[in-house]
Amino acid sequence: MAIQWQHQVCLITGASGGIGEAIARKLAGLGASLILTGRNSAKLSELLESLPGRHTVACADITTADGLDKVVAVCHEHPPTMLVNSAGINEIGDFSAIPMARIEALLTTNLTAPIALTQRLLPVLQRAGKSYVVNVGSTFGSIGFPCHAAYCASKFGLRGFTESLIREYAHSSVNFFYLAPRATQTAINSDAVVSMNKALGNQMDPPERVADALVAQLEGNKSRWFIGFPEKLFARINGAFPGIVDRALIKKLPVIQRFLTSVTKEKLS
Ligand SMILES: NC(=O)c1ccc[n+]([C@@H]2O[C@H](COP(=O)([O-])OP(=O)(O)OC[C@H]3O[C@@H](n4cnc5c(N)ncnc54)[C@H](OP(=O)(O)O)[C@@H]3O)[C@@H](O)[C@H]2O)c1
Repeated sequence: MAIQWQHQVCLITGASGGIGEAIARKLAGLGASLILTGRNSAKLSELLESLPGRHTVACADITTADGLDKVVAVCHEHPPTMLVNSAGINEIGDFSAIPMARIEALLTTNLTAPIALTQRLLPVLQRAGKSYVVNVGSTFGSIGFPCHAAYCASKFGLRGFTESLIREYAHSSVNFFYLAPRATQTAINSDAVVSMNKALGNQMDPPERVADALVAQLEGNKSRWFIGFPEKLFARINGAFPGIVDRALIKKLPVIQRFLTSVTKEKLS
């Protein structure tokens, strides 16, 4: 599908983060206009200054009603043709030790907020003619990984949400996409996660790889896109034969717990 990038107005949540910033740089380079969203106004202003073209910032906490209202108000002034839901947080470690308030914040950020934003912006996107919604999921939206229970719940939810809309809106002008990066070199991953990935031999991509994949996915009109091998194979095997992946991950559990359960202990001490 040839996308006329210079005619796109793309709202990117999490634009102040590693993957969101890489997506912003890629899309601005292709000629799109952007609405950059995040909570860190200094980072967003710095990004805005450094991008070619004309863009807008909507600094907001998307887990609050006021924050969502602010983003939607900016979108009425600058109607988007594309929504990229990239904002996200993680909580790793021993499930029993993570306070429920932090789990609720994670679910609101990673799942409720993109659902709310998508619903609030649907009328605007429908008026745009052909439009696009890309939800940034994760390999962990297909594989339940130990010490990531809440994060996996949010990303499995986001995948189900997207899949439902891909089917429900199949005959509409709004096109839904699910993009699943594997581990990527950004601030969401603590030193403990980076060390665990090294110990397990898991690859970590630069965020630009995710931005390139997003463009390839949209241009190829692929509703689902999983980055990286063997991750995309494991996701398929997990779907068909979860017992095989149970055994593989349970074997790795001592290594995973060595790196990740100390994190929750530190947080609580
Ligand atoms: N990095 C990975 O290994 C990896 C792998 C698979 C999937 N992903 C997914 O990729 C997406 C982007 O993550 P990243 O790696 O770029 O992480 P990151 O560098 O930590 O960026 C996270 C972004 O989310 C924004 N955000 C968090 N809470 C928010 C809130 N309440 N309101 C508004 N914005 C909020 C942050 O903005 P502020 O800091 O300005 O608040 C930041 O821009 C996430 O959905 C993540 O789950 C990441």
